Amino acid sequence: MNKVVLVTGANSGIGLALCERLLSQDSEGLQLCLACRNLQRAQAARSALLTSHPTAQVALLHLDTSSMASVLTAAQEVKRRYNRLDYLYLNAGIMPNPQFDVKAFFKGLFSSRIVSMFATGEGILTQQDGVTSDGLQQVFATNLFGHFLLIRELEPVLVQAGQTSRLIWTSSSNARRSAFSLEDVQHQRGSEPYSSSKHASDLLSLALNTHHNSQGLYSSVICPGFVMTNLTFGILPSFPAFLWTLLMPVFWLIRMFTNTFTLTPYNGAEALFWLFKQKPESLDPRAKYHSLTSGLGNNYTQPRKMDIDLGTSEALYEKLLQLESEVRQKLKQKRIPESS
Ligand SMILES: NC(=O)c1ccc[n+]([C@@H]2O[C@H](COP(=O)([O-])OP(=O)(O)OC[C@H]3O[C@@H](n4cnc5c(N)ncnc54)[C@H](OP(=O)(O)O)[C@@H]3O)[C@@H](O)[C@H]2O)c1
Repeated sequence: MNKVVLVTGANSGIGLALCERLLSQDSEGLQLCLACRNLQRAQAARSALLTSHPTAQVALLHLDTSSMASVLTAAQEVKRRYNRLDYLYLNAGIMPNPQFDVKAFFKGLFSSRIVSMFATGEGILTQQDGVTSDGLQQVFATNLFGHFLLIRELEPVLVQAGQTSRLIWTSSSNARRSAFSLEDVQHQRGSEPYSSSKHASDLLSLALNTHHNSQGLYSSVICPGFVMTNLTFGILPSFPAFLWTLLMPVFWLIRMFTNTFTLTPYNGAEALFWLFKQKPESLDPRAKYHSLTSGLGNNYTQPRKMDIDLGTSEALYEKLLQLESEVRQKLKQKRIPESS
């Protein structure tokens, strides 16, 4: 039976590279669904995939993870099209209006933090968040909550007798406990919403394992490393493309010291691809699986313990369930005047 695989944010970067790698391994045995907010870009991605894998089954789905109405509609459509879902890759993500702290960067260059600064972006990156039409913080909604609601809606196709299904989150090494607070899970008050949302996805993955492993649903988390994608280019928007190209030899040099400089989307998708082939029972729910590339350019996946605890993960899970019921209530109220 063909495996059904849905990838959010599949039209570019790491998500698209994952799709390419999955099809290169088995273009006949998959039903791949690219869930994207921009259907024009999604169509271009589908065409590119079909050019190299003409017989593959590649479908498109409109999904904006920052809009809860879009998530509900997309989930309905998935349940209409497929009677089961084997893999759900929760990969879509944003880092809006990033502010790069040049002063902190140069200070870090001459300190003992240099490697961790390059590996995690710690201390040099902040963002300006916005608010969605649902009244949620944009980064939280896009990176975490839209995905949470999607999982909740897709439970009937993810959890079925005799079936094992997988949730695989694209997190980050920028996910830091210090950026996250249970009192402010949406990160309304801070300036590191990206880091907060990624730490929250690490915590949520653990809670999903606690609640669903007995039903055959398993969740894992990866970090793709530092990859040159639209998201990374957005950190220095005024930096011309050719300068990024000129910087590549410097990045290759840095890779001699930190294997987290995976650099290409293909390399960054390594852990996502590796997890596809693993038995979920053999995985550690407290590990983040890192895509790594050696100085010589060899890819491999390495598990590293996450800085998370069960108590906080359960507390976050409860908060997300509470928020879910509030959001559903609001959406219902919005629909009533429209239809009356
Ligand atoms: N690049 C890195 O170094 C790095 C490091 C750590 C983690 N990550 C994570 O890797 C994941 C993929 O990012 P990337 O680096 O491959 O960057 P990317 O090329 O910008 O890909 C991000 C994808 O997410 C989609 N997306 C954004 N907002 C969305 C929304 N509201 N609804 C649906 N899709 C949405 C984008 O669609 P559009 O084309 O419409 O914008 C795009 O397809 C993200 O979760 C990111 O946080 C990246």
